[in-house]
Amino acid sequence: MKILIVGGGGREHAIAWKVSQSPRVEKLYCAPGNAGIAEVAECVDIGVMEFGRLVEFAKEKKIDLTVVAPDDPLAAGAVDAFEAAGLRAFGPRKNAAILEGSKAFSKDLMKKYGIPTAAYETFDTPESALAYLETAPMPIVLKADGLALGKGVLICNTLEEAKEGVRTLMLDKQFGEAGNRIVIEEFMTGREVSVLSFVDGKNIRIMTSAQDHKRAKDGDKGLNTGGMGTFSPSPFYTDEVDRFCRQHIYQPTVDAMRAEGREFKGVIFFGLMLTKNGPRVLEYNARFGDPETQVVLPRMKNDIVDVFEACIDGTLDQTELEFEDNAAVCVVLASQGYPEHYEKGYKITGLEKFAGAEGYYVFHAGSRFDQEGNIVTGGGRVLGVTAVGENLKAARANAYGATEWVEFDNKYMRHDIGKAIDEAQ
Ligand code: AMP
Ligand code: GLY
Repeated sequence: MKILIVGGGGREHAIAWKVSQSPRVEKLYCAPGNAGIAEVAECVDIGVMEFGRLVEFAKEKKIDLTVVAPDDPLAAGAVDAFEAAGLRAFGPRKNAAILEGSKAFSKDLMKKYGIPTAAYETFDTPESALAYLETAPMPIVLKADGLALGKGVLICNTLEEAKEGVRTLMLDKQFGEAGNRIVIEEFMTGREVSVLSFVDGKNIRIMTSAQDHKRAKDGDKGLNTGGMGTFSPSPFYTDEVDRFCRQHIYQPTVDAMRAEGREFKGVIFFGLMLTKNGPRVLEYNARFGDPETQVVLPRMKNDIVDVFEACIDGTLDQTELEFEDNAAVCVVLASQGYPEHYEKGYKITGLEKFAGAEGYYVFHAGSRFDQEGNIVTGGGRVLGVTAVGENLKAARANAYGATEWVEFDNKYMRHDIGKAIDEAQ
């Protein structure tokens, strides 16, 4: 088969690596890809939102299956564009990607179908939002309705902060159109768990649990980022939590989307909070998580191409997912200063140490080739160093060991990825 992956970050590198393991794949392309992905796929210089060019390319190269990974093209109808041209594509159509694309939609869906989540109200004007806040309990959470690179969520401790937040989102439009409508919701506390699943419209198969570290600095301090590291599985995702979620969250979400005429095929990422009253949905994503994918796929035994096809064909009920009985940790190597100001273009050395090191992976998030053909830093998050181990502690020690294998100027990482593991003992 000929396969095209759309995207160019660490998540896409992990997907490309996993796809490249399939004996069914004769040729793999990635648009636009990056310097690490170039090791396993031929990178094509087409942007993820250039649907016309992507479809043309897929037709010309007789691509059998395209995997659309990032949220923006999914929300804008990339899968619909491929299907309209008679091509097979993995991922939700536009009318289903709204599960992530609109927080107001997903909150209304959960309310209508009794799926446990934080209590909330939706507002279309700053006046109504400000009036509501006067009598609301604090802390409180404000969320821009639309896609905001995972940054459109404000946790406000006081009424003043909350009012300022409404102004930031709705008047200053810090996240553009995404803030035309906002959701204001109850503040919850508890551990966060990410659960990735495959969905074929009717059936759902859970992959495994993971946990992300979103803040830039140790101790969960500093600004929110795209993710500084992950581990899988989460020791807090117990059998009891799993049973509850299967009964009240996973299948009910798939059934709800079908009942709404928005059949969901692709990956649903459940962002859960384990509160003292039980698991609650914090958010849905309509795609693989980044950097959750970098710890989930190295543990997956199945041929992922088979699973992609089962999702498209509606035959996931005949597929069982299998995961290694081990653990994985991913530590993100970022550029000093991320997520604010940082420099790029520094040469990365030591990458070759990962070749042939079983159980060790270096997934490139932001890297590129310079004019001499060296691999240089090309983003805030540069690399995701993943290692597996027989348990979480072993995986963590392996991953931190391997962070020393690569060097570049301004290399920055958190030193406490997976620290929560110790609290689970
Ligand atoms: P979201 O993009 O909706 O997942 O929100 C980003 C982050 O904000 C989450 O990972 C949580 O850490 C936090 N968050 C979101 N909603 C709530 C809530 N209702 N209560 C407490 N924290 C929240
Ligand atoms: N790691 C969180 C996300 O992919 O949205």
